[in-house]
Amino acid sequence: MKGRATVHRDYKIARIDDRLYSAFIEHMGRAIYSGIYEPDHPTANAQGFRTDVLELVRGLNIPAIRYPGGNFVSAYKWEDGIGPQEDRPVRLDLAWRSKETNQVGINEFAGWAEDAGIEMMLAVNLGTRGIEEARNFVEYCNHPSGTYWSDLRRSHGVESPYGVKMWCLGNEMDGPWQIGHMEAKEYGRLADETSKAVKAFGGGIETVVCGSSNDGMPTYPDWERQVLEECYENVDYISLHKYFGNTSRNTLNYFAKIEETGRYIQSIAGVIDYVKAKKRAKNDIYICFDEWNVWYHNREQDSKNWHSWDWPEAPALLEEDYNLEDAIFVGGLLNEFIRRSDRVKIACIAQLVNVIAPIRTTRGGSAWATSIYYPYQFASLHGRGTALNVAVDCPRYDEDAAQDVNFLDIAAVLAPDGKSVTLFAINRSLEEPMEVSLDLQGFDNVTIIDHQVMGGDFSEARVANTEAEPDRIKPRKGDKLGVVDGSLKGELPAFSYSLIRLS
Ligand code: AHR
Repeated sequence: MKGRATVHRDYKIARIDDRLYSAFIEHMGRAIYSGIYEPDHPTANAQGFRTDVLELVRGLNIPAIRYPGGNFVSAYKWEDGIGPQEDRPVRLDLAWRSKETNQVGINEFAGWAEDAGIEMMLAVNLGTRGIEEARNFVEYCNHPSGTYWSDLRRSHGVESPYGVKMWCLGNEMDGPWQIGHMEAKEYGRLADETSKAVKAFGGGIETVVCGSSNDGMPTYPDWERQVLEECYENVDYISLHKYFGNTSRNTLNYFAKIEETGRYIQSIAGVIDYVKAKKRAKNDIYICFDEWNVWYHNREQDSKNWHSWDWPEAPALLEEDYNLEDAIFVGGLLNEFIRRSDRVKIACIAQLVNVIAPIRTTRGGSAWATSIYYPYQFASLHGRGTALNVAVDCPRYDEDAAQDVNFLDIAAVLAPDGKSVTLFAINRSLEEPMEVSLDLQGFDNVTIIDHQVMGGDFSEARVANTEAEPDRIKPRKGDKLGVVDGSLKGELPAFSYSLIRLS
């Protein structure tokens, strides 16, 4: 198979917001307890956080993390997680039928995030609670001193305010499963008023209003229209969520879901533009894709488990063994985010540890990177700068999820130095290598400084990293590409993902 492409240094899409590579972690399953926090683990630090996990997290250079939920947040009392740990109440988490010990609350999490070098993005409970609790939470976190909530924080040993800038106004409020689920107009009004209250604290606070839980919701995309009509002028982002899977074992269709996601993003962008025009508004609203990932391997069984179990504490939940195919999919989805970085400013992989995650652990045991860790790492480390347009000419295919899908998927990012470029290239063909010729216009004498490949053999599509074999799916050095007369030429193996850095 042959593919041709052209990239020009001056044909820019947008400056990529670093937060495109953010993450999400929820009080759910073993994400927090025995994921990031396990005081009696051999690697635990003085605060009880696992340093083996911290090291893997640091390797991802995550800009921001959404916390504490998720469905969990819609019945959460943030005040349960402050003050002496021994005095904290154990509560029932209604979202996942589990017991929440509250041993990790905002101050412990903030300490962990600081250690990991990640900015916090906090969600407020708009399910069972409202404006009052949200404003108290912001005051506790962000006000310096001299008030009830700020002095309470100081009495808990945190002298300086956190200055949290990003606040999410509830979670998936369109979903009937959500505790406190609402109609669009009702939620839009509450989000508008809550956003105003949260922003009244100053300090450049930005808010994220809930969009649809996915593009299959019966209320999508009218939910977005109605919500934005209520709050357009007072919010900064609208959220999108989407999870993916290959239950039908049709890999090409799985990959085509990335094109489908492009349409989802485009439709929301259209709704934003419509409401902006209707309201004659001056401000812009961007997309915050704050939950995305592959979620299907154990989905059915997990659902049966948590609907019937007897309120366990930190049970195993949504612990997916990601395989090679999932890694290539995740690389492709990140490519789509790069291409849509004109509208998508924040995106959060959901989630970070154990629960549908790039990092897994066992209680008392080891921590390892799942297959999807690597494409996410590559994008986060090398996908910063300006997204460039890539014109691709290659064979295409049709599937249920989308038609006319390119076998060759490439995203290009111009580094902040304005001279180096990084390409993320996927050959979606399951059997055929792709002979590529990519014309690099406007770049002076660049050469390949790094080429990493994942995949190359479809018979390995379902191989996953496990505790026993944590390194089965890993990038390796590529050696079949070179720059000849200003063009990148050579071969992309069948069924592969490549990181190609040129400088
Ligand atoms: O990430 C798992 C769950 O998926 C989240 O709690 C919820 O927001 C979504 O439905």
